[in-house]
Amino acid sequence: MDSAAIGRAKEHFGKLLEAQMKRMEKVKSMPDWIDYKTVKPIKVGIIAGDGIGPFIAAESKRVLEFLLKDEVKAGKVEIRDIEGLTIENRAAHNKAIPDDVLAEIKKYHVTLKGPTTTPRKGDPWPNIESCNVAVRKELDLFANVRPVRVPKQGINWIFFRENTEDLYALGPYGIEVDADIAIDFKLITTPGSDRICRLAFEHARTNGRTKVTCVTKANVVKTTDGKFLESFYRIAKEYPGIQADDWYIDIMTAKLVDEKRRRDFQVMVLPNLYGDILTDEAAEFQGGVGTAGSANIGKQYAMFEAIHGSAPRMVTEGRAPFADPCSMIRAAAMLIAHIGHPGQAKKLDMALDITGQYEKKLAITGRPTGATGKDFTDYIMDWINNPKLESTWEGYVKP
Ligand code: IPM
Ligand code: MG
Repeated sequence: MDSAAIGRAKEHFGKLLEAQMKRMEKVKSMPDWIDYKTVKPIKVGIIAGDGIGPFIAAESKRVLEFLLKDEVKAGKVEIRDIEGLTIENRAAHNKAIPDDVLAEIKKYHVTLKGPTTTPRKGDPWPNIESCNVAVRKELDLFANVRPVRVPKQGINWIFFRENTEDLYALGPYGIEVDADIAIDFKLITTPGSDRICRLAFEHARTNGRTKVTCVTKANVVKTTDGKFLESFYRIAKEYPGIQADDWYIDIMTAKLVDEKRRRDFQVMVLPNLYGDILTDEAAEFQGGVGTAGSANIGKQYAMFEAIHGSAPRMVTEGRAPFADPCSMIRAAAMLIAHIGHPGQAKKLDMALDITGQYEKKLAITGRPTGATGKDFTDYIMDWINNPKLESTWEGYVKP
């Protein structure tokens, strides 16, 4: 037995624990939620990202600026670009987020971010940490909120994916103990689980939802998922009017395709990795990951993004202008609602539903066989400006 290897692994593990204990102190002493009503101007940063990012970011920015134009004019909102979060710059610094870029991001209350390339072993880039994951950790954006709605199928789900823990927290810090053994670490904490579960129940309460479902694999992953589930049922007691139940991730992925049962789910709360997987599946019912928005919410900052990747192949094949901007535009709607303009956000959501799910006068295929992102965004803008937006949407949605 290689006891030196075991010694090195123990030492490494000890350091990870020290860092996590420090993080727990920080999480517990965090200031409370920022109140956007008291902030002027609310600073909104646009991060274009990699690959198709700059293409879809330009379209999303156009929509955002249009819907917030009165607020911008009144000096209540400021919208600017944040440069430097590109794979080239991150690779040059060999860092998930270069320090100066992180300092810049922290000057903004909320950001709208295009997809960024996540390198993996064997890529031409250094194998740095995903910058999505790094931003989420750095800004403590603990809740990844992902709605999926397909009104005609009775689907109206919202996922609360824990965003700073689980296998993601120590993703870059696993141990290659020896030539045979590699170990990663799954981290679940009580404060981390409590806050995401509480947010899910709060959402249910303020939005008239009657049920919250927790998804784990606590029958097998007993210690960490067990803790998450325990936290869920403890927090549930604070919300006696809301039904709480739980499912295991395997059967849950099956139930989402079960037409008879899937309508029963409303609000779902789950650890990071299960949330990553289940929300891609869920987005598929709505038209694919290109159509779903994602909000990364923390008490001080928030970041809104497309749920898909940067699709570098679309760029090399010259197809980037045909990339679907809808996921990022959906994220823009979530941003607008988050900073206190739910009416404007609703308009955008309705326009996205009509163009993407009902009227479908244009279709995006990601190729010259379909519309360009620019033309599709014009189509969305036409509906935003259409006085019949709301009545048309209601006509479609109501049976
Ligand atoms: C997502 C993405 C990211 C994740 C990747 C790009 C690191 O898949 O936002 O769901 O796994 O969280
Ligand atoms: Mg994902």
